[in-house]
Amino acid sequence: MKSFQTERWAVDNFDENLIKHPHVIQASLWIKQNEVVALPTETVYGLAGNAQSDHAIARIFEAKGRPSDNPLIVHISDRKQLKGLVSSIPANTEKLMNAFWPGPLTIVMPKGNNVSEKVTAGLSTVAIRMPNHAIALAVIEASGVPLAAPSANLSGKPSPTTANHVYEDLKGKIPGIVDGGSTGVGVESTVVECIDEKVTILRPGGVTFEDLEHVVGAGNVIIDPGIQNEKMAPRSPGMKYTHYAPDAPFVLVDGNPEFLQQLVDKERAAGKKIGILTTDERVDLYRADCVIPAGRRENPETVAQHLYEALRSFNEAGVDQIFGEVFPKTGVGVAIMNRLEKSAGGNIIKE
Ligand code: TXA
Ligand code: MG
Repeated sequence: MKSFQTERWAVDNFDENLIKHPHVIQASLWIKQNEVVALPTETVYGLAGNAQSDHAIARIFEAKGRPSDNPLIVHISDRKQLKGLVSSIPANTEKLMNAFWPGPLTIVMPKGNNVSEKVTAGLSTVAIRMPNHAIALAVIEASGVPLAAPSANLSGKPSPTTANHVYEDLKGKIPGIVDGGSTGVGVESTVVECIDEKVTILRPGGVTFEDLEHVVGAGNVIIDPGIQNEKMAPRSPGMKYTHYAPDAPFVLVDGNPEFLQQLVDKERAAGKKIGILTTDERVDLYRADCVIPAGRRENPETVAQHLYEALRSFNEAGVDQIFGEVFPKTGVGVAIMNRLEKSAGGNIIKE
């Protein structure tokens, strides 16, 4: 694999005229040469390359170590770019674009002629989103092409929410990282597909079930049953892979804090170094080697924001085993639990 001195290109999100910022231009010059760079979006950092270049797409898969049957999301800065990317715009899609773009909603649409097979992994559909992040939009605009961008982590690891996380995973493999600080939403975009009047959630994320129902009407939003049921194949190829995994074994505990503490005490008595993933409200209730609050239980958006950072910090602490709390599956809690269940490989202990 090609090697690089990975540079960091700091950009202030609030700078005026970002499209002329030297670091935005630098990133876009690499993209024009069909290389790939990392950039912030409102959800997580993405690893971006020209969606029309097979070379760039191959570099994305290579740098991440991503299975080639897992398609990429194409990022646009202007709806005019849909021309050539999609062959038609299904019912309800217009409504969703009006309500949520720019924002954390990815819409799967019938693929147009101008999309590399490598982006869509041979599928007849293409996933598209317009990120709600001034730097991401400026880099797309400066590059002059739609950008394919998966999360900028090594395949299987938690997604990066800071430039440091990207550096940890991709140092030496890419020419640079546009550093725009911490991302806001913290979990990836919601991926949906519209068929007739129905909107199916293929991956829960920053836009919630409730947000979608509000726009397309109660009863018109479905969650792909393949996400929850291990016996069914999920419709989004990426959902079948192990993901977001910390280095140590991770198990979720569906019970009260006393029950979780008993499990921890047992392992510590056996000499193991234990981590606990908790919330601000409960952090003082636990004794372990490393107790990390992701955010406030009362405000699940803050948990989403810091979830991946919390999972990564157990690696630095070098724990042997991690126990984590569960969350109610409403609002952004659906996305939080989807990521936690994946990161725990489905391991849940019930009280
Ligand atoms: O928030 C996000 O969406 C971030 C930022 C960087 O934009 N990107 C991201 O990309 O999460 P990635 O590659 O990590 O996840 C893309 C997901 C995968 O689960 C993939 O299988 C699914 O989208 N996907 C892509 N194209 C699809 C298609 N045509 N049909 C169904 N699922 C698709
Ligand atoms: Mg990803």
